[in-house]
Amino acid sequence: MNNKEIKKKYLLKVKELITHNKAYYDKSDPLISDKEYDQLKIEIIDLENKYNFLKNKKSPSVNVGYKPSKSFEKFSHKVPMLSLSNAFYKDDLINFEKKIFNYLNKRIKIEYSVEPKIDGVSASLTYKNKRLIFGASRGDGNTGELITENLKTIKDIPIKIKNSDFPDDIEIRGEVFIKKKDFLKINDLFANARNAASGSLRQKDPNETKKIPLNFIAYTFGYIKNNSHKNQSDFLLNLKRWGFKVNKNNKILSDIDELLKYHEKFERKRFNLEYDVDGLVYKVNDLKLQNRLGFTSNAPRWAIAHKFSADNAETRILNIDIQVGRTGALTPVAKVSPVNIGGVVVSNATLHNEEEIIRKDIRIGDIVKIERAGDVIPHVIKVDKDKRNKDSKKFIFPTNCPSCGSETVKEYNEITKKYDAVRRCTNESYGCEKIAIEKIKHFISKEALNIEGFGKKVVEKFWELSLIRKPQDVFALNYNYISNLDGWGELSINNLKNSIENSKIISLQRFIYSLGIRHIGIENAKIISDNIKSISNFIKIIDTNNFEKFLNIDGIGVTQIKSLKNFFSNKLNVATVNELNTILKIESSNFNKNGILKNKTFMFTGKLNGISRAEAKSLIEKNSGSTISSVNKSLDFLVIGDKPTKKKVDQAKNFGIKIITLIELEKLLYKAN
Ligand code: IVH
Repeated sequence: MNNKEIKKKYLLKVKELITHNKAYYDKSDPLISDKEYDQLKIEIIDLENKYNFLKNKKSPSVNVGYKPSKSFEKFSHKVPMLSLSNAFYKDDLINFEKKIFNYLNKRIKIEYSVEPKIDGVSASLTYKNKRLIFGASRGDGNTGELITENLKTIKDIPIKIKNSDFPDDIEIRGEVFIKKKDFLKINDLFANARNAASGSLRQKDPNETKKIPLNFIAYTFGYIKNNSHKNQSDFLLNLKRWGFKVNKNNKILSDIDELLKYHEKFERKRFNLEYDVDGLVYKVNDLKLQNRLGFTSNAPRWAIAHKFSADNAETRILNIDIQVGRTGALTPVAKVSPVNIGGVVVSNATLHNEEEIIRKDIRIGDIVKIERAGDVIPHVIKVDKDKRNKDSKKFIFPTNCPSCGSETVKEYNEITKKYDAVRRCTNESYGCEKIAIEKIKHFISKEALNIEGFGKKVVEKFWELSLIRKPQDVFALNYNYISNLDGWGELSINNLKNSIENSKIISLQRFIYSLGIRHIGIENAKIISDNIKSISNFIKIIDTNNFEKFLNIDGIGVTQIKSLKNFFSNKLNVATVNELNTILKIESSNFNKNGILKNKTFMFTGKLNGISRAEAKSLIEKNSGSTISSVNKSLDFLVIGDKPTKKKVDQAKNFGIKIITLIELEKLLYKAN
């Protein structure tokens, strides 16, 4: 080998290492075992030792330990660190405001704090008595990693605050990022600036963190003891006075047209900024309003991220694959000639469903325009029919499942009175290999069992080796067998055992979600869990097939009931729940345990003045009450607004249920607070 070839071989290995860093940091889904990773690093360092000319400042031998330690202490966020919903078009913004108006039950002029959305990683800083005592990463939003010492190395983060008006107990949040010019110096080690920031922040040794120049911009608080701020913008001004960096481009704007104008201007300007920005964040400026609006399960109702326009590129469709999802849905995916879109190499694009293919007349061999917006999966926006090969044929969508060969159907939707656009495999449950694998992936996923180190690739591997067939098999792995597999050393097996063991204590809500029942997502699992409280109640309902009981729960409708019945009509699923119940410790829902409205149920009829049903419902829930959707014996209060339904009032009278007005409800709540 001559020097050129040696260098090529070396760079290939470095590139591979970077790919693995990326898989590990970004996706928490390592492609190789720890052992293989270490081996790769050793090979790189060996090459450098052998050929001196390969040595360089950026080499992994200098920057030891790119792979972060798994041994950071956990940090439980007092207030969850949620994400933001995305908007791309004007309609999304109109919709965002409309939801706010609906929730508040009136149209008002809303003032927004407009802030650039820096593409870095968020961090949480807890100050007590004017001193930084904890610094943590976001983690899964509820639990992060304690990285105080690493954060302290960032010069923008004050360790001690002098101002007399700095709150005694406050948690400040912001973005850790690396400037574009600094990233250029290390860009062969990380895929992008965001990864570099995240990787550096999670180094075990703070001296390693110090090596990469990180920055911090503050933008919100998790909580403040005795908060006296009226607006988000006042808080930002104070942050600056207290010595934090805040964004110079923050603005206060008022209506959607103004937001759009600023967005357009800023989008052009963003290339001249020192750091990567992927959009603007609009936050309702009034903190009281923010408080009223609250959160959905994963994002605030009072803020939205308006992303910059998507990047697109032209490429050719090489093939169309049909993927089978957890719920049996057949999703066509275009395999395309790899193309770089905004810094990411894209080789797959979703085609959504059969109808989309027919509507756009998408064919194998076509030249198409592909769009990639934010984290959304790339999709085909247009076919260039002029460039189409004359003898190309229409794509015929399969009518049988490509995984198990079963018949597929498009379901009829009773509510919309239309057939579904999506075709589904009818082979329920674990009969279809692809569905079964996807179900297990869902079971171990972050929002469900959250088993660290048990990524999707591992599920596929273990399935291939017949080590797992059902979710419960995760708890009876043959470790002897696994230890003989390539890449599974003692350390990685112990890690896996530990994380599986740790996942055994689980909330009822997560457990219900983990089963992967169609139409029972995180939000519905939460509603059900808050209502039935314990796993034994859940099993009782399954055993008596009494899912109609859930019809009483606000938010659960016939679609969910039908899906639950269908799921549990399969004895395998019933057995899975029972078996899992003996393996796991499923914790009862302790949602709002001891509020003043404890065990009290409410129902509304008529128009409520000055408050939306959604807000009234959440006020009741905040005080441990619950709302139901029909008048029956279990109802305690019927709350009447304008023009109540006579039938409901009569029924309530018959049952001797208390009938109260909105003002009386407010009095009850007032007593509560
Ligand atoms: S507010 C629940 N403000 O965007 C409120 N976030 O998708 C969320 N981000 O994890 C935080 N700039 O990493 C907020 N000015 C800004 C932001 C910002 C960037 C990031 C942050 C967060 C993510 C949410």
